[in-house]
Amino acid sequence: MKKRKLRLRDRLVVVIDVDSKGRLLKILSRISGKVSTVKLGLEMIYSAGIGVVDITKRSGYDVMLDAKIMDIPNTAGRASSAIAKLKPSIITIHALGGRRMIEDSQRALEEQSKKELSIKPLLFGVTVLTSLDDRDLEEMGFSGGYIGTVKKLAGIALDAGADGIICSPGEAGILRKEYGEDFFIATPGIRLEEDSPGDQKRFSTPEKAIQSGSDILIAGRSITGKEDMAGAVDFILGRIGNALGKENMIW
Ligand code: C5P
Repeated sequence: MKKRKLRLRDRLVVVIDVDSKGRLLKILSRISGKVSTVKLGLEMIYSAGIGVVDITKRSGYDVMLDAKIMDIPNTAGRASSAIAKLKPSIITIHALGGRRMIEDSQRALEEQSKKELSIKPLLFGVTVLTSLDDRDLEEMGFSGGYIGTVKKLAGIALDAGADGIICSPGEAGILRKEYGEDFFIATPGIRLEEDSPGDQKRFSTPEKAIQSGSDILIAGRSITGKEDMAGAVDFILGRIGNALGKENMIW
C-alpha cells in the first residue's frame, strides 16, 4: 500500500455515538465542516439505520464506518462487499477474527469497489479495545499483556493486507518501530487534560498520540461532550498541528 498524504483536517475523526438522525444532523452542523471525516458506529447504525451513512456523506463528510467486522471469512467478506456499496472512506474489522477473514474482506472490498467504480474504503484492523487493560486481557486468557497482544494482532492484520491499525496512543510508537511507516495508525482513547476518561483505560492527549506515530486521532466525548463543539475541534486540530510541526503539515 502507498500511504496517501493527510491534510490537517483528515487527521481528526469526530466520533458520533448518538441514537437518532436528528442528533447526528445537529452534531454535523455544529462541527461545521472543520474535519473531513466522522465516525459512525454501532449505536448510530442500530438506532437510526444504515441510511445514516448516505445522510452524512450528503452533508459533506467522509464516513469512517466502525463496523467492527468479526465473523467467519465467508460472512465477513460478503458483509464487506455490502459495505463497499455504501462508499465509506474507512471501515474497521477486528484483527482477532484472524488472517483469512481480513484477507477475504480486503479482497471483497477491492472487487466491489471496482464494480462500483469507486475508491476502495481503507480497511483498518482493530487490535485491543482501548477500554481493556492487562488485567482484562489476562482474564480472557491472553498472555503478554496489551502491548504484546496489540503487536501480535497488528502484525497479523498488516500481513493480511489491512491498510491501517487501530490501537491506543500508547502502542503507536511500538508499532511504528516494529512495522514501519507504510500503514495508517488511528488512535481512539484521546482525552484532554480536563476530560473524564469515562470507560477508556488506555488514553492520551493529542500531542502524545501524534508524537508516538499516530496518523489519525479518533475523538468522541472530548468534542461532542462540549457545549462549543466547533471550538473543541479547532482546539484539538491546533494541538495536532503544533505536535506535527510546520514541516509536516498539509492544509
Ligand atoms: O468518546 P470516545 O472518544 O471515548 O470514543 C471513542 C470511540 O472509539 C468509540 O466510538 C469506540 O467505539 C471507538 N473505539 C475505541 N477503542 C478501539 C476501537 C474503537 O474506543 N480500540
